[in-house]
Amino acid sequence: MEKTDPRPSTKERHLTFPPLETVRPAIREMQGYIPGEQPQDKRYIKLNSNENPYPPSPRVIEALQHAIGEDLRLYPDPLANRLRDQAAAVYGLSREQILVGNGSDDLLTMLMRTFVGPGDRVAFPVPTYSLYDILVAMQDGEVIQVPYPADFSLPPHLAEINAKLTILCHPNAPSGMLTPFPQVERLAQQVRGVLVIDEAYIDFAEETALPLLHKYPHVVILRTFSKSFSLAGMRIGLAFGHPEVLSELLKVKDSYNINRLSIVAAVAALEDYAWMRQNVEKIRATRGRLTTALRALGYVVYASQTNFVLARKPGVRQEPVYLGLKERGLLVRYFSAPELADCLRITVGTDEEIDRLLAAMQDLRRSA
Ligand SMILES: Cc1ncc(COP(=O)(O)O)c(C=O)c1O
Repeated sequence: MEKTDPRPSTKERHLTFPPLETVRPAIREMQGYIPGEQPQDKRYIKLNSNENPYPPSPRVIEALQHAIGEDLRLYPDPLANRLRDQAAAVYGLSREQILVGNGSDDLLTMLMRTFVGPGDRVAFPVPTYSLYDILVAMQDGEVIQVPYPADFSLPPHLAEINAKLTILCHPNAPSGMLTPFPQVERLAQQVRGVLVIDEAYIDFAEETALPLLHKYPHVVILRTFSKSFSLAGMRIGLAFGHPEVLSELLKVKDSYNINRLSIVAAVAALEDYAWMRQNVEKIRATRGRLTTALRALGYVVYASQTNFVLARKPGVRQEPVYLGLKERGLLVRYFSAPELADCLRITVGTDEEIDRLLAAMQDLRRSA
């Protein structure tokens, strides 16, 4: 009798056994980053992703309209030098001290690829931006989380970990709080590896760590156009650092990480810096009003230096409030992690949006 091969054919094998056993264990075991909800079903008042409620500068829109044309058939400048030069002029740096990313997430990825191999330590105070954990896991690195004390001041032992990378989110998300400059400088003096200072929200804050760049070659500062410049949809970030460090990052960059239109948008946004500052001032004023109103509703509200606030009702789970607001067409951010379950993170919207939010919260309180 003719013997048949008992193994499934290549075709069958792919149908019945997706090759999951070949997925790297680090990837198989991790959950993946869960971004804030970006619902497509209906229009919500979106106060959950720290986007800017005001539109980008009209000069950005105009520049984009001019840029939409036949040149789109050509690859973009891989280094986005026009943008580097414009940013160099605005921030008082040289072109070589600037690297452009497809959002600051892209720059965080480049930092991890460059500095973190299997088993290498990456330290940061928590709670903070949860993407850091995921990017370290992708490299098979070791995350060392150092809990913030209850007042969110800088944990004193952060520098003793001897990590390859230490990350400081400055101001921090989700607390919204800023570590004072002298403490950041002390951290820069104490850490052995690279100190990454993620300044995604710095335009809403009182002071930047930028001056450290001129003294400490192991400091890398990240900025984004997603928040203060109202360009989250264009995906543009900047890394400021020592030219030799940035040259290493360049080696692991995707070849054409920024598209032509994003470069045009970012250059125009920097050319109209005053537009951004005006929006930031409006948001800071609304932030003050929101903070006062939430405190009147019985929340502990941390002193925010960002375009969001963290509001805590100690010991009272905030999921029902989050769900009630969602039902009323308002999205805020709720974190199920036990240490944040009594908190809501609320993006500062327009005054009208915040009035709607506060009215809905009062309504919920009445019906509770
Ligand atoms: C602390 C922090 N860093 C970085 C980012 C990523 O920003 P981008 O849109 O530039 O990738 C975010 C986005 O919310 C953030 O909160």
